[in-house]
Amino acid sequence: MQAPVADAARERAFSLPLSEINVSDPRLFQDDTIGHYFARLRRDDPVHHHVDERFGPFWSVTKYKDIMQVEVNHQTYSSDIHLGGINIRDVPEAHRRPMFIAMDPPRHDDQRRTVSPIVAPGNLAQMEATIRQRTRNVLDSLPRNETFNWVEKVSIELTTQMLATLFDFPFEDRRLLTWWSDVATADLTAGGPIDSDEKRTAELLKCLQYFTGLWNDRIQRPPGNDLISMMAHSPATRNLSPVEFLGNLVLLIVGGNDTTRNSMSGGLHALLTHPGEFAKLRANPGLIASLVPEIIRWQTPLSHMRRTATADAELGGKQIRKGDKVIMWYLSGNRDEEAIERPDEFIIDRARPRQHISFGFGIHRCVGNRLAELQLKILWEEILPRFPVIELMGEPERTFSNFVHGFTALPVRIPG
Ligand code: HEM
Repeated sequence: MQAPVADAARERAFSLPLSEINVSDPRLFQDDTIGHYFARLRRDDPVHHHVDERFGPFWSVTKYKDIMQVEVNHQTYSSDIHLGGINIRDVPEAHRRPMFIAMDPPRHDDQRRTVSPIVAPGNLAQMEATIRQRTRNVLDSLPRNETFNWVEKVSIELTTQMLATLFDFPFEDRRLLTWWSDVATADLTAGGPIDSDEKRTAELLKCLQYFTGLWNDRIQRPPGNDLISMMAHSPATRNLSPVEFLGNLVLLIVGGNDTTRNSMSGGLHALLTHPGEFAKLRANPGLIASLVPEIIRWQTPLSHMRRTATADAELGGKQIRKGDKVIMWYLSGNRDEEAIERPDEFIIDRARPRQHISFGFGIHRCVGNRLAELQLKILWEEILPRFPVIELMGEPERTFSNFVHGFTALPVRIPG
């Protein structure tokens, strides 16, 4: 955001009556002014109640310690889709899909336990060489001396290729993965092709059909290194019902798509707009180890997760009632000066870079966090020796969403 625009946004955020502050408005994320509203709430009303036209009444939890309190009390703050699930928007009953991110114990724990070995370090190590080769291919094919959209040519392409690699998904059809992930997370009011729950469900049924075909194929072959084969053959997962198996696959696709994609775009944008930090990195590529978690904090690829209170509770001095919708704004928690030193600065050599809350916490803490970090590490290890200069050619365009926090365009140029 340009300086005078930022100043005006800040003034507005700090002068509005608290009752008019509505941090669920996707336009504030798209125009990148949301941070000022979160700063206001952290200072003046850290657990803030608001009634939105679309999302109904909800609590905004904006301080790190209060978010933690919600995360660790999963008995009081439920993720169950039948109570409301994990998103600020209530999903109509006919369009709810079973996945363990939107379940409470014991079902959540059982399913998480069966899926998580798939992304354990040993399995990731087996995939590392392929991920690296595909990263190299994408970077080597980038245009020189012309402006292009990094989001399209690198972030989307690489994340999609990586997902196709992980699932050993037919490579020529890989953009279906991008499409299904976008379908699953689209804001129905964004003006895109998915503008109703009916359209969304119809498209995701095609995804389930496609994956069923792959599963039937893998189960007849000897065990392989891809996630579908691993799940189909592993004693821990092969007895999942097809619906549960597929629900969890969809969760892995969606979980690993927008998040990693937007960390790839957000990381480059952050470095290009903080040239001092980029210079530090070029001088010492060993800093990639702390750069990666700092990118994930800075970008916070998922702005929020939602819970529903199962009992009356006190939070940050406010009285929460059974049935209330509680939104944990990770994007705000990651800028909380009481939890993170100099939170508004992008610092690639922080002493404790993993302090952030972008992966959540507690029983739902991200299963794919090590995989995401590995992908970003490889990306930066391959970018640095290849491109001594990358130029930012204009303002980025951001996603219209209060959930997926990301970029739709990042114009750059690589001389050479
Ligand atoms: C930078 C990248 C990523 C970010 C920021 C991210 C963020 C998150 C967040 C915030 C949660 C919910 C945590 C909570 O409720 O406390 C989550 C859960 C999850 N993520 Fe990720 N994620 C990323 C990458 C991935 C990848 C690569 C995968 C898999 C391929 C993945 C799979 C999952 C799954 C399966 C869950 C559900 C865990 C549960 O409910 O127990 N994520 N992630």
